[in-house]
Amino acid sequence: MRSLTPIAILASGRGSNFDVLARAAREGRLAADIRLVISDRADAPVLEKAARLGIEVLHIASPGRGPEDRELHDAQVVAALQNRGVEWVVLAGYMRVISHVLLEAFRDSRGFTRVVNIHPALLPAFPGMNAYRQAFEYGAQVTGVTVHLGELEVDSGPIVAQAGFSLEGCRSADEVEGRGLEVEHRLYPQALDGLLRGRFKVERTPKGRLRVLPS
Ligand code: GRF
Repeated sequence: MRSLTPIAILASGRGSNFDVLARAAREGRLAADIRLVISDRADAPVLEKAARLGIEVLHIASPGRGPEDRELHDAQVVAALQNRGVEWVVLAGYMRVISHVLLEAFRDSRGFTRVVNIHPALLPAFPGMNAYRQAFEYGAQVTGVTVHLGELEVDSGPIVAQAGFSLEGCRSADEVEGRGLEVEHRLYPQALDGLLRGRFKVERTPKGRLRVLPS
């Protein structure tokens, strides 16, 4: 049986999650062949990091921010992914809303998409941007990290894994983020490895949502 699944990482920024995923793949803790890293930003540090590791990088600029621009952009992304035989798409700080063009190109026959994201909160709490800051400013005592699959509505897809942490003693949103990133860096490689190895089952919740559980 083939042991490594071809994946691509889509990222817009500093790429700390890319770093840990690439390291986990090198060390055999993530059953992935990282074929490609795509960024919508030419100056994203993640592109340089990936290139230094010998991974192919692509900058695909967005024509704009409207819904049609989004679809055009995603069509270019999908073409690049399909050309390289990518089977799972891993979002790691990708600051774009994904359209149906990308989601449907990677929809599995079991109903879910093979598009994975990491969100810095315990969804459905604090969706959207700056979730660590949102939790800090709200006065939450606990927040966390969610790995989930992509769906049209932002931060709404089936939950794959979650881990919480306490905000006790945090005096700034930056401190919350520092704590959160450590949790992300543990959770993402582990949760993704389970998905790539097919060690999961999919169930429906009483509300008809999909839920992904380790098996
Ligand atoms: C992380 O906090 C991730 O949860 C969010 O964007 C941030 C990306 O950080 N989606 P990095 O670029 O991986 O360092």
